Amino acid sequence: MSANNEGFIHIDDLDQHAADTHRPTIAERQRVDYREIAKEVGRLGEGKSYFIRTHGCQMNEHDTEIMSGMLEEMGYKAAREMLDADFILYNTCAVRENAEDKVWGNLGSLKPLKARNPNLIIGLCGCMAQEEVVRDRIRTTHPHVDLVFGTHNIHVLPGLVEEAHHSKETIFEVWDAAHEGTIENLPRVRKDDVRAWVNIQYGCNKFCTYCIVPFTRGEERSRLPQDVIEEIQQLAADGYKEITLLGQNVNDYGIDLQDVDFADLLEMAAQVEGIERIRFTTSNPWNFTDKLIDTIARHKKIPNYIHLPVQSGSSQVLRRMKRGYTREEYLDLVNRIKTRIPDVALTTDIIVGFPGETEEQFQETVTLIEEVRYEGAYTFVYSPRAGTPATRLPDDVSEADKKQRLYRLNDVQDKISLEQNQKLIGQVLEVLVEGESKTNADVLQARTESNKLVHIVGSKELIGQLIHVKVTEAKTWYLRGEILPQGVGV
Ligand code: 5AD
Ligand code: SF4
Repeated sequence: MSANNEGFIHIDDLDQHAADTHRPTIAERQRVDYREIAKEVGRLGEGKSYFIRTHGCQMNEHDTEIMSGMLEEMGYKAAREMLDADFILYNTCAVRENAEDKVWGNLGSLKPLKARNPNLIIGLCGCMAQEEVVRDRIRTTHPHVDLVFGTHNIHVLPGLVEEAHHSKETIFEVWDAAHEGTIENLPRVRKDDVRAWVNIQYGCNKFCTYCIVPFTRGEERSRLPQDVIEEIQQLAADGYKEITLLGQNVNDYGIDLQDVDFADLLEMAAQVEGIERIRFTTSNPWNFTDKLIDTIARHKKIPNYIHLPVQSGSSQVLRRMKRGYTREEYLDLVNRIKTRIPDVALTTDIIVGFPGETEEQFQETVTLIEEVRYEGAYTFVYSPRAGTPATRLPDDVSEADKKQRLYRLNDVQDKISLEQNQKLIGQVLEVLVEGESKTNADVLQARTESNKLVHIVGSKELIGQLIHVKVTEAKTWYLRGEILPQGVGV
């Protein structure tokens, strides 16, 4: 059994690979301390500034926080504007083509900046960097990019920046696979003072046929529970109120370790004093155990909110996507969750126009969302990704049909979202005040347990607090509420 020359295990060999791989106990697991690496890091960034443009998922957002931490330890300061920065870094997403197109457009427009500031360093990292075709295109048409590195080696960024400083050639440093074990004690500059992301697991073993993530992020690796819990304890000590446990497949947490699973980790996290809410994303339908449902149900600190991507309502499409469950099995899971957690809020991800999706199969997705009644859905048109198994299927749904299906699905879901929100009018809900609204500084934005945005008018001193509000108005995407006098609650 071996990985192919890109460092990935072939999809057909996965079960055998899992059986062959010795799962380390917690005590055996290797880990690398970033502090050891940092001893070699100089202060090259003194007097210079950096700007990171982040595309894609929360994992990328959090990687940006880590890279900002490393750069600031080198002396760099955050630039307000990209145009002012001495180091511009694109942290990219490869999940859909339009995310990539944006990056290509932006990279091209940076070329003139090089003429203005010859010392400017331009870098590209994240999921696009893991793609060979992207690296080839940079070599041939974007030589003004100085540095390309991938998802597996962000911890060597300081050394790479130094190298880029001295090199006339583009530096490509992309690893095929991750370092054995996890890298710990990474510095972080967190964007928010109330809510924080905590990585619990990297990579994905699932190989859904449309998805590039297993290729760009590699095999699943779990952080040791004690490293995760120590990070959460530190966040509590720093005054954070909410954490989101991050992974591509959080309910697979621990499959590469002997003696811990995701429910155990949630249980441990719920014991940390000071943290009021523990969220997690993304969970998947195939191994959502009763133990996990029970853990969520038992802890007040774990919101009754689950993002549970279904992708399609048709069992035939799900089989072609290799999702590992049928429509019936998914609905059965939803019923088990709703029985144990009656007020649960569910959201989902859906792809329309997957190869071979017929109008009838699309209709099955519509009836599924009507049956589940999600609070919201992230909906996407299928985008073929080079190297993924689905590209071997004929991409036979016309662009017009794909777009039309997306509009029709969004129409149905928007109505459901509005109705779900209208049901809340008059109810008193506990919300965490996150900060000023992004669109109106006189309004505060808060979040319900079910992850809904609530706009309220109140003092900025409430930021970071859990308070009770009465819902006064419902829109498709948010609620309006009024603050109840202190002590009045549910
Ligand atoms: N095309 C369209 N959507 C995709 N997603 C992942 N890969 C693709 C693709 N090739 C969507 C899935 C996933 C979300 C993060 O992005 O719905 O859950
Ligand atoms: Fe992609 Fe499927 Fe892994 Fe999610 S579970 S990252 S959709 S392969």
